[in-house]
Amino acid sequence: TTKAVVLVGGSSRGTRFRPLSLDVPKPLFDVAGHPILWHCLAALQKVPSIHEVYLIGYYDESVFRDFIKDAASEFPNLSIKYLREYQALGTAGGLYHFRDAILKGRPERLFVLNSDVCCSFPLNEMLKMFTEKDAEAVILGTRVSEEAASNFGCIVSDNHTRRVLHYVEKPEGHISNLINCGVYLFSTDAIFPSIRSAIKRRTDRPSRLMSYPSSDNLMESSFVEYDNDDETEKNEVIRLEQDILSDMADSKQFFVYETKDFWRQIKTAGSAVPANALYLQQAWQNGSTQLAPAGPNIIQPVFIHPTAHVDPSAKLGPNVSIGPRATVGAGARIKESIVLEDAEIKHDACVLYSIIGWNSRVGSWSRVEGSPTPVANHSTTIVKNGVKVQSITILGKECGVGDEVRVQNCICLPFKELKRDVANEVIM
Ligand code: GDD
Ligand code: GTP
Repeated sequence: TTKAVVLVGGSSRGTRFRPLSLDVPKPLFDVAGHPILWHCLAALQKVPSIHEVYLIGYYDESVFRDFIKDAASEFPNLSIKYLREYQALGTAGGLYHFRDAILKGRPERLFVLNSDVCCSFPLNEMLKMFTEKDAEAVILGTRVSEEAASNFGCIVSDNHTRRVLHYVEKPEGHISNLINCGVYLFSTDAIFPSIRSAIKRRTDRPSRLMSYPSSDNLMESSFVEYDNDDETEKNEVIRLEQDILSDMADSKQFFVYETKDFWRQIKTAGSAVPANALYLQQAWQNGSTQLAPAGPNIIQPVFIHPTAHVDPSAKLGPNVSIGPRATVGAGARIKESIVLEDAEIKHDACVLYSIIGWNSRVGSWSRVEGSPTPVANHSTTIVKNGVKVQSITILGKECGVGDEVRVQNCICLPFKELKRDVANEVIM
């Protein structure tokens, strides 16, 4: 059988997701009508051999309780459990810490998913490659622009065999534009011994790291960086990317499955807007019945929660999600945006490329707008007159925008009242 782990992180992470993560842990933030994490489970459910999924993180136990309860009834063939790390153990540390639970029932394979990515999760395709290649590890890869690549793990592979030859996490220079999507499939016989040898390497290493005898500069620099880490964390934290993957490229049957489908990272709050768009488009292509019914003022794909109220003269879409109990008044225009629970968009307001926080009010004839995010650079900032600005406008929870006020490319912290026009600002 196959099991799966979703790495959900913890409350010290997701800081770039502020102000939205102030009110809800990032994995539970709704895009396209469902929590980010739900989309991972929906993909795992499509793999017939998976019955058990562990969410590993260091959030409080209570955080995922309701979500897991709902998911259990929605995904009846998955048993979902939350395993809590007592502190951040790194992307491989949690796997190792909970190895007994994971290995119970002797699964042969283990999927590991970063929760903060938005993608089509071609897990069955990865599984097929895994079997065909008799692999010990398969990583999901995608091509990005050369400028963007160094923000991710970079993979050098054999074009013909798809074998991973080198792996370097966030390299300083350009190595490859094939990057790590944060989705892996490991043989359980390979991953746990690999983590164990990484731990052993660490303990055996002389404490004066600067003299670490390595011919491989890249390896060395990642170890040196480690030395700067907090003493208490040092022994426990193990990172899949830095401590395991490059080693696997040298010693294991490690392959890359390159996806041509959509893939995006969800780091900044603004990145929820492209993620929302991509998941809505996927739902639209799959003929999902959860999308809004067709109408003269609906440009698909649009999701409207059944408890929301949208005036029929409001024009919505494409790529709009309207949350529970939100209201949208007559003549409003909303496009490429997320309107969260209990928010109110008054008549003739215009909301473009924005996120409207829980309980926020957007006045009549106002404009709340961001700018389209460039697809190729995988970032949510744009350069305007030579300065970097936020491309997506975000209103935190319970903000108010006055009638006829224009808010452009701003991040607005919770509980703010905007009475005058603002542009390119963080409103605190
Ligand atoms: N349980 C647990 N414990 N989860 C963690 C921890 C930890 O200590 N640290 C990070 N995570 C989770 C995060 O919540 C996220 O889902 C995932 O692990 C990776 O997060 P980061 O460590 O912040 O890495 P990154 O997102 O900057 O880069 C990773 O993902 C990229 C793709 O999105 C790397 O794997 C890159 O190589 C990759 O390109
Ligand atoms: P359509 O022919 O309706 O598609 O209009 P369009 O192509 O000009 O633009 P779209 O419908 O995509 O709507 C976005 C534009 O609507 C914005 O750029 C605004 O200029 C305009 N708009 C601004 N305020 C309002 C408003 O209060 N109501 C409506 N309906 N539109 C507004």
